[in-house]
Amino acid sequence: MQQDEMLGETQISKVGVIGAGAMGHGIAQVFAQSGFQVRLNDVSMDFINSGMKRIDENLSRAVEKGRLSAYQKKETLSSISPTPDLDDFSDREFVVEAVLEKIEVKREVFQRLDKVCPKDSVLATNTSSIPVTQIASLVSNPARVGGMHFFNPVPVMALVEIVKGLQTSEKTVSTVQKVSQRLGKTPVLVADSPGFVSNRILCPMINEAIFALEEGIATKEDIDTVMKLGMRHPMGPLELADFVGLDVLLDVLEVLHREYQDPKYRASPLLRKMVRAGYLGRKTKKGFYNYD
Ligand code: CAA
Repeated sequence: MQQDEMLGETQISKVGVIGAGAMGHGIAQVFAQSGFQVRLNDVSMDFINSGMKRIDENLSRAVEKGRLSAYQKKETLSSISPTPDLDDFSDREFVVEAVLEKIEVKREVFQRLDKVCPKDSVLATNTSSIPVTQIASLVSNPARVGGMHFFNPVPVMALVEIVKGLQTSEKTVSTVQKVSQRLGKTPVLVADSPGFVSNRILCPMINEAIFALEEGIATKEDIDTVMKLGMRHPMGPLELADFVGLDVLLDVLEVLHREYQDPKYRASPLLRKMVRAGYLGRKTKKGFYNYD
């Protein structure tokens, strides 16, 4: 497929989102609110239904605050069609993958998409640590794969990092950028480098906060207060670690450490211990803080 045979961004209306979890449900919501027809996929209807429930709750909150009418909420929900079957992606023009950050899982998804989706569709990945170039290599035309890195909570955060893999075409980059703008987000183009820009800066900062905690420099609350009041961060780094997920944080640090071979990215022993204990933050109701 030549670059100029691929769909132009203005023609795109049918979108597929794979993964209805923390990121995927938010991604599906912002696409639906921006007028796209969305198919939302996950491995089971249970997962999809729990993603739909979260979207419903987010929209209800917006209605309560007077930011959305009840009619707009209904329209938004009706433009998302849940499906556990990826064969239903055969007419999708633009797909965003937001599944687990495990290459085996992404491999299975991209190999299916390669067969099922129209040849001129764009395949975007919300990867936060696995290189886009590696994911693109899983399909027959890697030019149509690009990174579209959203931030949690997706409906609130204004940034999308657009990641150009080694073989990503200019056309794919431009389409992902324009689609991001249609979502009301600000796209920033970055190279396919470990951690991109966001996680290369954010994750070592959080890691440093965990080292400070481990060394007894201050309590967790005080470390968070320093960063909230001193640097105007909306959340302290330990609160943010719980919000992002300690396993996700460790995955990113491992990638940075392995790829740059620089000890400055070494994950703190306390972070490792917490992940081993299954204390992954908000999603397990226990991290640096308790969420019971
Ligand atoms: N989904 C949708 N909307 C949400 C939400 C959610 N999960 N959580 C909060 N909101 C909305 C609220 O409804 C509220 O909306 P309005 O302004 O319209 O009223 C707004 O966000 C603010 O929420 P709250 O008043 O309840 O709480 P807050 O002021 O403390 O803000 C926060 C919450 C937006 C999460 C804020 O604490 C924040 O910005 N934290 C930092 C988040 C961050 O850094 N995210 C990036 C993580 S890194 C990542 O995602 C990438 C990766 O690869 C690891």
